[in-house]
Amino acid sequence: MDSKLEEYILSHIDAEPGVLKKIDRDAHVKLLRTSMISGHLQGRFLKMLTQMIRPERILEIGTFIGYSTLCFAEGLEENAEVHTIEIDDELEGYIRSNFAQSEFGNKIKLHIGDALQIIPEFEEGSFDLAFIDADKEQYWEYFETTLPKIRKGGFILVDNTLWYGKVVEEVESNDWATQGILEFNRKLANDDRVEKVILPIRDGVTIIRKK
Ligand SMILES: C[S@@+](CC[C@H](N)C(=O)[O-])C[C@H]1O[C@@H](n2cnc3c(N)ncnc32)[C@H](O)[C@@H]1O
Repeated sequence: MDSKLEEYILSHIDAEPGVLKKIDRDAHVKLLRTSMISGHLQGRFLKMLTQMIRPERILEIGTFIGYSTLCFAEGLEENAEVHTIEIDDELEGYIRSNFAQSEFGNKIKLHIGDALQIIPEFEEGSFDLAFIDADKEQYWEYFETTLPKIRKGGFILVDNTLWYGKVVEEVESNDWATQGILEFNRKLANDDRVEKVILPIRDGVTIIRKK
């Protein structure tokens, strides 16, 4: 997005909460690949969607520093919870200390391991909302593994589905991430089990509703 327009949007929406600002700044000092973090605009959007859907249980695939997790937790009602899965065990201490800084950290259950192995352990239909935001190569597998765990009428959000605009450009044969996103978008478009809409927020967010 044009940076002036982005600045304008960010100065006309709810402010980024102090804890999120702090963990984002801290990650930029200590970690690589910080462009993966949802950030101010998408974070406020995820919180708002959570307030609209009013889920009792959320499943998140791909925690990284826990920024989006905390946004979901912030939007949850009393006694609702978010389960988040992160494959990189070296991030565990970092993530837990981020959650401990937030008043919403107690609504979060962190699972360390491969989402494709952990998700099958959850009960069928036991989640109202899921957020897929891990390895782009495996997007379709995450979706197929997650769908049975979502109740009828529940939602799945999928991040980065426009992938820096690469979805409409010529793809290199070794660009597995873009190919993963393209495969996901193509299969989803023809999937009658769900309704779907792509929003051009940040890097593209697909909202899916299970029929
Ligand atoms: C894009 S980042 C998540 C960003 C975070 N959701 C946010 O918006 O702030 C993706 C994360 O998924 C993790 N990941 C990749 N493959 C995974 C898998 N199979 N299971 C669980 N986590 C995975 C990566 O280690 C990385 O931390």
